[in-house]
Amino acid sequence: MKYGHFDDANREYVITNPRTPYPWINYLGNEDFFSLTSNTGGGYTFYKDAKFRRLTRYRYNNVPVDDGGKYFYIKDEDTIWSPGWKPVKTELDSYECRHGMSYTNFKSSKNGLEAEVLQFIPLGFWGEIQKISLKNTSSKAKTIKLFSFIEFALWNAEDDMTNFQRNFNTGEVEVEDSVIYHKTEFKERRNHYAFYSVNEAINGFDTDRESFIGLYNGFDAPDAVTEGTSKNSIAHGWSPIASHYIEIELQPNEEKDFVFMLGYIEVDEDNKWESKSVINKKPAKEMIAKFDTVEKVDTAFNDLKRYWDNLLGKINIQSGDDKLDRMVNIWNQYQCMVTFNMSRSASFFESGIGRGMGFRDSNQDLIGFVHQIPERARERIFDIASTQFEDGSCYHQYQPLTKKGNAILGGDFNDDPLWLILSTTEYIKETGDFSLLDELVPFDNDISRAKPHFDHLKASFYHVVNNLGPHKLPLIGRADWNDCLNLNCFSNDPNESFQTTGNKKGKTAESLMIAGLFVVYGKEFIKLCKTIGKTDEAKKAQTHVDNMIEAVKEYGWDGDWYLRAYDYYGKKVGSNENEEGKIFIESQGWCSIAEIGLEDGMVKKSLDSVKTHLDCEFGIVLNSPAFTKYYEEYGEISTYPAGYKENGGIFCHNNPWIMIAETIIGRGDQAFDYYSKITPSYLEEISELHKVEPYVYCQMIAGKEAFKPGEAKNSWLSGTASWNFYAITQYILGVKPDYNGLSINPCIPSHWEGFKFTREFRGATYNITVKNPNKVSKGIKEIIVNGEKIDSNIIPILSKNKEHVITVIMS
Ligand code: BGC
Ligand code: NOJ
Repeated sequence: MKYGHFDDANREYVITNPRTPYPWINYLGNEDFFSLTSNTGGGYTFYKDAKFRRLTRYRYNNVPVDDGGKYFYIKDEDTIWSPGWKPVKTELDSYECRHGMSYTNFKSSKNGLEAEVLQFIPLGFWGEIQKISLKNTSSKAKTIKLFSFIEFALWNAEDDMTNFQRNFNTGEVEVEDSVIYHKTEFKERRNHYAFYSVNEAINGFDTDRESFIGLYNGFDAPDAVTEGTSKNSIAHGWSPIASHYIEIELQPNEEKDFVFMLGYIEVDEDNKWESKSVINKKPAKEMIAKFDTVEKVDTAFNDLKRYWDNLLGKINIQSGDDKLDRMVNIWNQYQCMVTFNMSRSASFFESGIGRGMGFRDSNQDLIGFVHQIPERARERIFDIASTQFEDGSCYHQYQPLTKKGNAILGGDFNDDPLWLILSTTEYIKETGDFSLLDELVPFDNDISRAKPHFDHLKASFYHVVNNLGPHKLPLIGRADWNDCLNLNCFSNDPNESFQTTGNKKGKTAESLMIAGLFVVYGKEFIKLCKTIGKTDEAKKAQTHVDNMIEAVKEYGWDGDWYLRAYDYYGKKVGSNENEEGKIFIESQGWCSIAEIGLEDGMVKKSLDSVKTHLDCEFGIVLNSPAFTKYYEEYGEISTYPAGYKENGGIFCHNNPWIMIAETIIGRGDQAFDYYSKITPSYLEEISELHKVEPYVYCQMIAGKEAFKPGEAKNSWLSGTASWNFYAITQYILGVKPDYNGLSINPCIPSHWEGFKFTREFRGATYNITVKNPNKVSKGIKEIIVNGEKIDSNIIPILSKNKEHVITVIMS
C-alpha cells in the first residue's frame, strides 16, 4: 500500500494520507539552523547543536507517537482543524504534505477553506519561515480564527527533559507587538534568545502552556482554541510557549497570507539589554524585517530552489527506470547532504542528545557529498583529523559545537583511522586538490602538535601495522565497524555500556573486517604515495599490505567464506565450526573488495556464500544464523533478538559493500538485485510493511529470522546513504573519479540497453552515454570523447566550463 507518490519534476514526495505507518519526516536548513518536520506538523528546531541549542521542545517515545510540534489551529465557526491534520485530527476534505528539498509544504482544505503552509529556512538565515495562506473557496464570507503554537525548550534538550525542579522556575518571556520572545537564562550565562513572530497585528497571544492548553487537555483541544480566544498569558516558569491569535475575514475567493518566523539571536555581552530586564530586540526586528512580506519570502524560497538545482545538477542520470533515476538524481543525494549536516545526531530515532559526530561515520558520509560541496568536505576532513592522536588512534566521536573529541566515549575502535584514508583520497580524486595533504592539522586538537595532513594518513595506516594480533591480523579494540561485536568487553552488568566497557585487555581479538579494510585503503595509501612521488613510502607500505594479504589467506579463510574474527580466546568467529553466527557480511565485503585470493576463486566463493546464507527477500542480513542467546565474549551483538539490528538484521549500510564486490567479479545482475532490494523507491508499494519513508534509506530492515521480516527502522541518519550512492554511481553505473580523470567501468544488469550519466568533474561537464548493444554486464569496447576514440578507460581531465560528449560502448 502507498501513502502518497513521488513528484520528480518538483523533487517532492507527496503524502496524501496523513496516517502514514510511522511519521515520515523532512529536514529544513542547510547551514547552522535546522528543523525536523513530520508529515503531520510534528518536530522541532535547533541552532547548530541539537542538544545544547534546542529552540523548541519535542517528546520522544511519546503516546501517541509524534505529538508536539509547530502547529496551526483553524477555527471556522464550530469546526477546528489543522492544516497538517494533527494535532486536532479533524477529518479533512483534502490533505497533502509535500516534502521537498529542505522545505515542506502542507496543503489542506475543510468546509470551503483552503490552507497552505510552506515551511523552510532561508539560506544563511537563523530562522524558520512558515508562510500560511488561507483561501475562502466557499460562496459565503468567513470569519476565521487562526492560532499558532510552538513550545519552547529551555535550550539544553537533555536538561529540559530531566531537571524539572529547576526548570519549572526559570522560564521567562517578553511580548511586544506581534512578537513573542523567549529569554530563559538570558540574564545570566546565555547570550542568545529566540522569538516567534507574525507579520500582522494580532488579536491575542499566549506564552504560558497551561493557560493556552489547559492542564487536563492535549494538544488536540487547547482551551484557548476551543473557547475561541487567547488568554494573553505571560509565562513565569513552568513551560513557556508562543501562540498568536489572529481573526481573519475572508470574502468568497479571497486569499490572505501571513508570514510567521521562529528565529534565533545571539548578542554580545555589552548589547544584551534595551533597558533593565528588557532584552535588546533590535537584532530580532532586523531579522523579521528581512521577511516581512510574501514577496521577500518567495524570493528566498526561489533562492533555496536554485541552491538545490545547483547541488543536484552535478550528477544526473537517465536510466529509463524512474525508481533508479529519482534515487540517484534526487533523494539519495539529498539524504547524503542531510547526513553531512546531522551526522547521527537528530532524527526520529536519534534524540539529538546522544551522539556527536562519529569519526568513522563522518569520513564515510563524505563519499556521498564531496561532489556537491567539496570546500565544506575539505573543512570536515580537517575537523575529523584534528581529533586523531600521533599514533593514529582517535576519538570515536567529537561534538559539533566544540569540535573536541568526546573523552567519555574515548577511542580504540580500531577501524576508525582507516576511514580517513577513504575520505581524503576521495576528496582529492574529486577535486584534484592535493594541497590539503600539506596543510598543518593538529593532533588531539592541540595546534602545537600540528603536522601535515599526509602524516595523519600515514599514522592511520601504521596504527593497523602497529596493532596486530597473534595471527598477524588487526586487533579489533573495542569494536570495528560493527559497534556491537565487542570482543574485549565481557560485560554481565546491565549498567555498563558495551561500547565503553573493556573488562579484558584487548591483545588477542582480531578482525578480518579490518584486515580487508586495511588492504583496500592500504592500497589507496600506496597509490596516493606513488602519485605524489613518495615512492619509498609506497614501497614500505606495500610490504605491510602484502603481509596482510598472506595473513588473511593463511588464517582468515574458512573454506567457503572469510572468517569474521578471532575472539579473546583465539577462537574463530564467523566460521562453519560455530553453532550460530557462522558467516558475517562485513568480512565478505571487505576481503572481497580487497580482492584477497581473487586468483584462487576465494572472492567468488565468498560472494556465493553470501547469496546462499545471508541473502533474503528484503536484503542481505548481517550474520547467519542469528544469535539466540547471549555470548558474553561477543557482547552487544548477541543482545538483540534474532533478525534485528546487528544480529541478523539487514543492516543496509553494509549491503553496498557486497554490491561493490559483485561488480568486481562482473556480476551486474546480482549487484543491481541487491541494490533494488533495499532502495526505498523500490519499496514504496510495500510501505505498510516497510513502515519508514519510501524516499530515504534506513539503517535497518528486519532480517529473515526476525518476527516481522521487511519492517524497517531508523531512517535518515545512516552510512547507508553515502555507501549506496557510491555503489550505484561509481561501481554499478561505474563512473568514478580518479586522480587523473574520470574512470568508466560499468557493471550493470545484462538486459539494460545502456544509460546516460551527466557529471560535473573538475569544472567541466561530462555528458556520458553508455550503450550496451551486446547485452553484457561488464566490459568496454570503446570510449569516444568529443568524437575521438581514447585507448584507456579513464576519460582525461577535459577543458573547464565546457560540455563534453562521451560515448561508451560496452561489449
Ligand atoms: C547500535 C549500533 C550503534 C551503537 C553505538 C548500538 O546499540 O546497535 O548501531 O552504532 O549502539 O551508538
Ligand atoms: C551505527 C554507527 O553509527 C556506526 O558507526 C556503526 O558502524 C554501525 N552502527 C554498525 O554498528
